[in-house]
Amino acid sequence: MALMGRRMTTESSFIGISEAIQRVESDIRDASRSDARVLITGESGVGKEIAARSIHRSSRNAQLPIVTINCAGIPDSLLESELFGHVRGSFTDAYSDRVGLLEHANGGGTVFLDEVGEMSPRMQALLLRFLENGEIQPVGAAGGPRTCLNVRVISATNRDLWKSVESRDFRDDLYYRLNVIRIDIPPLRERREDVAALLHHFLTDFSAQHHVTVPELAPETLTRLLEYDWPGNVRQLKNVVERLTVRRRAGSIALDDLPVEILGTPSAGDLTRRERRASPLPSVVELLFAQMTQQHEPFWTTVYSLFMARDLTRSDLRQIVARGFQQTGNYKALAQLFNVAPGEYRRFLNFLRTHGCDVRFQLIGTMSAHQFSGGAQPYAQAADRPYQAS
Ligand SMILES: Nc1ncnc2c1ncn2[C@@H]1O[C@H](COP(=O)(O)OP(=O)(O)OP(=O)(O)O)[C@@H](O)[C@H]1O
Ligand SMILES: [Mg+2]
Repeated sequence: MALMGRRMTTESSFIGISEAIQRVESDIRDASRSDARVLITGESGVGKEIAARSIHRSSRNAQLPIVTINCAGIPDSLLESELFGHVRGSFTDAYSDRVGLLEHANGGGTVFLDEVGEMSPRMQALLLRFLENGEIQPVGAAGGPRTCLNVRVISATNRDLWKSVESRDFRDDLYYRLNVIRIDIPPLRERREDVAALLHHFLTDFSAQHHVTVPELAPETLTRLLEYDWPGNVRQLKNVVERLTVRRRAGSIALDDLPVEILGTPSAGDLTRRERRASPLPSVVELLFAQMTQQHEPFWTTVYSLFMARDLTRSDLRQIVARGFQQTGNYKALAQLFNVAPGEYRRFLNFLRTHGCDVRFQLIGTMSAHQFSGGAQPYAQAADRPYQAS
């Protein structure tokens, strides 16, 4: 089916359908409306950097630079000069004056301090001084005039920064200055409903990049990927999908095409009951879909009643609708497929709209029906069009 209005995503778009990702997106929107400092926390690979970039991109100063400083990647001796600049001759390799990275963002741009939890006590003290009054003093310029900068500071860490404060590895006064708006991005294992959407997104994107057709995942492969814990979060998933796309053999991707780190992890059996409930279970979707399409049971007594009794998540609902839509391509035929009487058509459409299953979320058209598990175009991509029934 046609992917009407599907926006191609950029590297820095957030993909995800979970409540957690919606919350993050709403925090990003709030943060981008002000110039307040933002601290983004979360495990490695959850998307802290793309969150920082999204804030900048949506801010009123989006046209100004965003300067990233990886506080862990630069030796302490160089970090000071990187941040604040230096004057010629201030140390052995300082052959000329150099403007610091903070100054590159001056005038309202953003400084993104990545891995801020790794800063040495000395650098923490220097950064604190800068955050207090915006003044910088290039290395070797002691006693000279100080420049006052206007930059917005976003920082990120995968440490529990408060624990570092308690263990006195991180200054509490610096912590409070950085932590004005807090955005916490949960690990992927705590928002499993995003996995399918991310799989679809990266399968499509990498296939386009590498000029191959979008590979299909065998059902057991998909199940394993959905149940896997993803300790490296979205970065790991992205890398795995790229490898699968590039190394693909003929046919669909079988279970043993998966990397050993995924095959080796016991999965389904290890999921707690809570996680099982929270995760999108393809079997529930399969079952209800078959009840309607093969046993001709009405939508109202199957999907609707389970959903209203809260035994079916919104994500499940979306998957079912998306599967049906994928088969039919329009709402009239979808209603028929789901055994909705013509007189109930309006009610059916209203129900879908109320629960975010209408045309605002575009369907994953390239996934075959049995693979379909994300069900919806991720919120980040949803075209913000008014509801229209086909
Ligand atoms: N929700 C998402 N949608 C799409 N891509 C994502 C998402 N989250 C992360 N990514 C991608 O995953 C990779 C890792 O993301 P990012 O660099 O932002 O993580 P991070 O939290 O900063 O990790 P680290 O702590 O290791 O620096 C990037 O390629 C990013 O584009
Ligand atoms: Mg990062």
